Amino acid sequence: MSMDYYREYILDHYRNPRNYGTLEAPDVHMEDNNPLCGDQLAMDLKVENGLVTEVRFQGRGCAISQASASMLSEMIEGQPIEEVVKLGKDEVLEALGIPISPARTKCAFLSLRVLHRGLAVAGYERPDLDEDEEE
Ligand code: FES
Ligand code: FES
Repeated sequence: MSMDYYREYILDHYRNPRNYGTLEAPDVHMEDNNPLCGDQLAMDLKVENGLVTEVRFQGRGCAISQASASMLSEMIEGQPIEEVVKLGKDEVLEALGIPISPARTKCAFLSLRVLHRGLAVAGYERPDLDEDEEE
């Protein structure tokens, strides 16, 4: 698919974020910011019988950070937690669909980092985490 398609797709997620908001009594909650710009992002998950049944995210930031959070929320909703803990940068980049410049990688992976920190704190360990993936 064309770059234009993906740019439109990113803008659509930015303007109409999926799963935006918070959950009451989430099983997983984490918030963090992008150290480069201070933009903040929070994620809430409900986990039932090993499945992520509900996801919400909330925050402010650039189109890439908000769109990747929105896309990530769609990717993980309804998925087994053991698959969710394995999600990495490749899956996020694939969803975004356009090359991300080095200056924007912290934006693109902000939600992923928040997700994995939240999962770790809630006791869902991520298998074989690469050193360079932990930022
Ligand atoms: Fe510069 Fe995100 S911190 S674009
Ligand atoms: Fe702040 Fe992208 S500029 S998250």
